[in-house]
Amino acid sequence: MEWHIRRKGEFYYKKAKELGYRSRSAFKLLEIQEKFRIIKNGNKVLDLGAAPGGWSQIASGLVGDAGRIVGVDIQPVPATGKNFKFVLADITKESAIKKISVVCNIFDVVLSDTAPTVSGFKDMDVGISEVLAFRSLELAQALLKEKGNFICKIFQGKRFTEFVGQVEKVFLKVVVFKPSASDKASKEVYVVALSKST
Ligand SMILES: C[S@@+](CC[C@H](N)C(=O)[O-])C[C@H]1O[C@@H](n2cnc3c(N)ncnc32)[C@H](O)[C@@H]1O
Repeated sequence: MEWHIRRKGEFYYKKAKELGYRSRSAFKLLEIQEKFRIIKNGNKVLDLGAAPGGWSQIASGLVGDAGRIVGVDIQPVPATGKNFKFVLADITKESAIKKISVVCNIFDVVLSDTAPTVSGFKDMDVGISEVLAFRSLELAQALLKEKGNFICKIFQGKRFTEFVGQVEKVFLKVVVFKPSASDKASKEVYVVALSKST
């Protein structure tokens, strides 16, 4: 790992500890929020790939007491506040939508920061990330209200353009964004999709 990437990682790690955030990823959502103002007070937010809970923490503060966060992961996430509920589910399984719907069946915002445990085999990691992103889009189609918004991480690979094309069929405006808190060397980017149209 190059020194500047390690230093950047350490910087965000320390900053997350200082501020009591559960992950460095929290800074990525804060940057996306500052630029696109997606999460609003009172919103219902579905957070896919929520563990260890950094994004849920940020979203929980933004939606306030009138809002609701449903965090989903294959690993447990400790509660982040009264407005948070956790659903233990693998989003690639058919049963995921049913399990989520028991808690809430319509959302204003769907977030997906899902990622494979990085194996080091780049093509494999990218392939899994693509599967998770396409599946997150399916969940967003099923559970987002009209005009709802979607943010989805994907590792850029062979199916990236196809993925953006699919997102563009469902949302009015789509922007590909790389937060500065994201390692430059990493293939991850965030597809920010505004206003679901179908
Ligand atoms: C980068 S972490 C998310 C970090 C989180 N946004 C935060 O701020 O704390 C990626 C998460 O995706 C989850 N994940 C991977 N595959 C999944 C799947 N099939 N279903 C649900 N979650 C999955 C992992 O367990 C991991 O917790």
